[in-house]
Amino acid sequence: MMNNLLSAFSATLLMLLLAACNPASPGSAETEAPLAGADIGGSFTLTNQDGGTSSDTDFTGKYRIIYFGFTYCPDVCPIDLANLMNGLTLAEKEDPSLAEKIQPIFISIDPERDRPEQLKQYVGNFHPRLIGLTGSVDEIAAVAKKYLIIYNKRESPGFSEYLVDHSRQGYLFGPEGEPIALLPFDGTPQQVADEIKRWTR
Ligand code: NI
Repeated sequence: MMNNLLSAFSATLLMLLLAACNPASPGSAETEAPLAGADIGGSFTLTNQDGGTSSDTDFTGKYRIIYFGFTYCPDVCPIDLANLMNGLTLAEKEDPSLAEKIQPIFISIDPERDRPEQLKQYVGNFHPRLIGLTGSVDEIAAVAKKYLIIYNKRESPGFSEYLVDHSRQGYLFGPEGEPIALLPFDGTPQQVADEIKRWTR
């Protein structure tokens, strides 16, 4: 199963690379979304940071910024999330109508430790509207597979704490849950904001 997932992931990367090598023809007004038509995403029903249930259909009509990670991540997740959410905040400042249109979502790939109360403390640090989602180990595995996120628990002998290696993606999905673009989570907030504004107008 992991091999299938990896090959699906590689195929997507390959597609992105091919897309990058094939710039829009000069003079074309509309550029197609980089992830248009890609088989990424889909339905989910998970537990949110308040202990309630959140489904993908709750966000119908809204763009979604989706990042997978875990709250105990020592460095990568907090930096990526800060970049993405600072970018969103900046985009909202530049175009206040975006606040109504975009839902940011953090999905934990460490559901055993990231329970709702843990998520609640975490997401508020990054953006006031950021939703944190968790679930059972099986529920998270199913969602991660749909969203082409690979993760692997890394335990060290003699240590009770563990890390989780995981894919980094700053996904932007559309109002029907369709994939649109990858946001530059390692870029500046302005670069993130520009990319958000580019696809959500
Ligand atoms: Ni991380």
